[in-house]
Amino acid sequence: SIETDIATTMLDWYDRHARDLPWRTSAAELNSGARPDPYRVWLSEIMLQQTTVAAVRDYFHRFTTRWPTVDDLAAAPDGAVMGEWAGLGYYARARNLLKCARIVAEEHGGRFPDRYDDLIALPGIGPYTAAAISAIAFDRPETVMDGNVERVAARLYDIHTPLPAAKSELKARAELLTPRLRPGDYAQAMMDLGATICTPKSPACGICPLQSPCAARRAGTAPELPRKMPK
Ligand code: ADE
Ligand code: SF4
Repeated sequence: SIETDIATTMLDWYDRHARDLPWRTSAAELNSGARPDPYRVWLSEIMLQQTTVAAVRDYFHRFTTRWPTVDDLAAAPDGAVMGEWAGLGYYARARNLLKCARIVAEEHGGRFPDRYDDLIALPGIGPYTAAAISAIAFDRPETVMDGNVERVAARLYDIHTPLPAAKSELKARAELLTPRLRPGDYAQAMMDLGATICTPKSPACGICPLQSPCAARRAGTAPELPRKMPK
């Protein structure tokens, strides 16, 4: 199907162009059966909630050097964690981070749950983060919806309905695209495409792996999409 072709194309593109980010597992590691560490996936996703990849890198490195496991983080004094967080902003995130680490350490034996429903019950983990951890760390077929995925889906299918009304339609399209095989890599491929090629203002359609199936590219509407309701 067209959806299967798109997912396969994205995974192939990801194998060649994935950004080298410290919480990712390399293609070679994955080939030898390794999985990303759920603690590192969780920590990176919490840090990335309102902060750019560039700003998160150093914080992520310092946190994982000082606290290599969720049990280490759970045992840290509040002040030490708040101190390392300083500069990232949104301090409620740091307080929820510690609450979550302590629940995982004390009630889940130091292992993150793999299912969406169990993840979303934890402090600081909402629909986006629950889907991201389940898909990226455990390779469960969850659809990870963020602004990047909404934009790519609106353009692929040339959907002109404005946000937020378009949300359910975009989610349905994105769910149909999510592959059963390697959904975590697929989710990260969509994030990378949205960050580097299918960007908000001037998408680089000429070098995009999805240029042939993309309806907005054909219609010339890509830079206008997704539409937004005036506030
Ligand atoms: N933004 C949020 N999560 C991300 C991830 N896993 N990779 C790249 N950018 C992201
Ligand atoms: Fe985005 Fe252009 Fe690629 Fe379509 S062809 S997905 S609009 S970058």
